[in-house]
Amino acid sequence: MKLLIDDARIDEIEKICELFPVAGVTTNPTILSRIGGNPFDTLKAIRELIGEEADLHVQAVSRRAQDIVDEANHIVKILGVNTFVKIPALPEGFKAMKTLLETSEILVTATAVYTPMQAFIAGQCGAAYVAPYVNRIDNMGFDGIRVTREIKEIFSANAMETEIIAASFKNSQQVLELSRCGVGAVTLAPEIFYAIVNNSAINSAVENFIADFESFAGKDKTMLDFQ
Ligand code: E4P
Repeated sequence: MKLLIDDARIDEIEKICELFPVAGVTTNPTILSRIGGNPFDTLKAIRELIGEEADLHVQAVSRRAQDIVDEANHIVKILGVNTFVKIPALPEGFKAMKTLLETSEILVTATAVYTPMQAFIAGQCGAAYVAPYVNRIDNMGFDGIRVTREIKEIFSANAMETEIIAASFKNSQQVLELSRCGVGAVTLAPEIFYAIVNNSAINSAVENFIADFESFAGKDKTMLDFQ
C-alpha cells in the first residue's frame, strides 16, 4: 500500500517526505485554493521536490468531457510523467476517461467516489486508480471502509487492474483498516501521518531507553561517544 500526502504546502510535504516512506502527493482544487496564485507554480514546486519518479495527482475542473480531456493533456504536458489526472466519476468524466484511454497514455484517477458502482464504471472506462472518500462517506451515515472493501471485491471479481487510492481520512484507525485489506494506496493529510505514531506508550518506551543509557554513560551521550 503506497502512502501519499494529501496537501500542497511545500514545507509540510518536505517534512513528511523526510520522515515517512512517501510515494507521492495528491492535490485537489480545495487544497490548491489554500495556497492561491498560479496553481502550476505550486504544482511545479511539488514536482521538483518529489522528483519525476513520484506520483502526483492533479484534478481537472472542467464540467464537459472534451474540456476535461484538454485540461488533462495540458496538466500532463506541464507536470510530466507519473502525473495522474483526477477526473470526477460522473458521466462527463467517464466520457473523458474513455477518450483519454483511446487517445493517450494519460493516467487517470477517478475521484469523488462515494459508491462501489461509480468505481466499477470508472475502472471499466480505464481509470488507473479510483479514490473513495472514506471519511466523507462515513459522514453521510454510510461506512467508508466497507464501501472501499466492496470496491476491492468488485475489482477482483471482475479481474480489473484498476487500483484503489483511498482518500479523505480523519484518523489513523481508518488507515489501519485499509492496510489490512491491501488497497493500492492511501493519501493522507500531514496530521494523519503523525497520528499513526502518536502514542504515549511508544514515546515513553523510547524515552526510558534513552534515560537508562544516560544513567551510566552521561547526559546527551550516545553510542557515537564510545568505540
Ligand atoms: C482526494 O482525492 C480528495 O481530494 C481528498 O482526500 C478529500 O479529502 P477531505 O475529505 O479531507 O477534503
